Amino acid sequence: MKDITDQYNKDLLVAGPERALEYFNTLFPGQCIFSTSLGAEDQVLTEIIASSFPSIRIFTLDTGRLFQETYELIRITEQKYNKKIEVFFPDYNSVENMVNSKGINLFYDSVENRKECCNIRKIEPLSRSLKGMKVWITGQRREQSLVRSGVQMVNFDKVRKIIKLNPLINWKEEDIWSVIRTKKIPYNSLHDKRFPSIGCLPCTRAIMPGEDSRAGRWWWENQSGKECGLHNNEK
Ligand code: ADX
Ligand code: SF4
Repeated sequence: MKDITDQYNKDLLVAGPERALEYFNTLFPGQCIFSTSLGAEDQVLTEIIASSFPSIRIFTLDTGRLFQETYELIRITEQKYNKKIEVFFPDYNSVENMVNSKGINLFYDSVENRKECCNIRKIEPLSRSLKGMKVWITGQRREQSLVRSGVQMVNFDKVRKIIKLNPLINWKEEDIWSVIRTKKIPYNSLHDKRFPSIGCLPCTRAIMPGEDSRAGRWWWENQSGKECGLHNNEK
């Protein structure tokens, strides 16, 4: 698979997001799907997909613990683009078992508990959302963290056995915001309150001046390169 993704990356060496989306949408029509967390990068991709690639489905993983601002942005974005953002929920039996045995806010008690919560609320629903698809599109960027700095535009996710396309991988934060402002793309109001990276409410805080953009995610854990398991499976 590495040979194939190397070839894709070569073909798309100087490609922008539109070209990359067109390339895969032509290769795998009806089998490309975009996951949005409604973050700034995702809103740029939603604008491009809704305007130029209407057949590409868009979905979000609703963990049940998102910010009200994020839910509101789902509504506004669907309205603006007249495009459905499909919502995938966690399995209710798993959530009930977890919270009834380990507590409602179990994630603060240990890294193990936090990962269990992310697994149940994000990773399992993600697997369902990608069923039958060939290409998973995400808003990851290299600049976001050290772990992501080595990620390519096209990768193979070895856990989910799917091509993973990150059309904005080389974009800088200022590129994202410039497009958002020029095209008047709706964005999460929390970004104006020092939340550059937004996940679940109990696991995301605002960052201090000079802090890393992901410092507010799982802020009580002191390990570096924090990820929830959605990413970091590339090869
Ligand atoms: S996370 O793994 O730490 O939560 P991050 O917030 O940086 O990820 O987002 C990176 C990309 O992962 C997003 O651009 C989006 O494609 C995907 N993603 C993250 N969270 C979700 C979610 N709740 N629903 C759908 N996609 C998501
Ligand atoms: Fe659970 Fe927090 Fe992970 Fe959300 S980010 S799924 S609340 S541990």
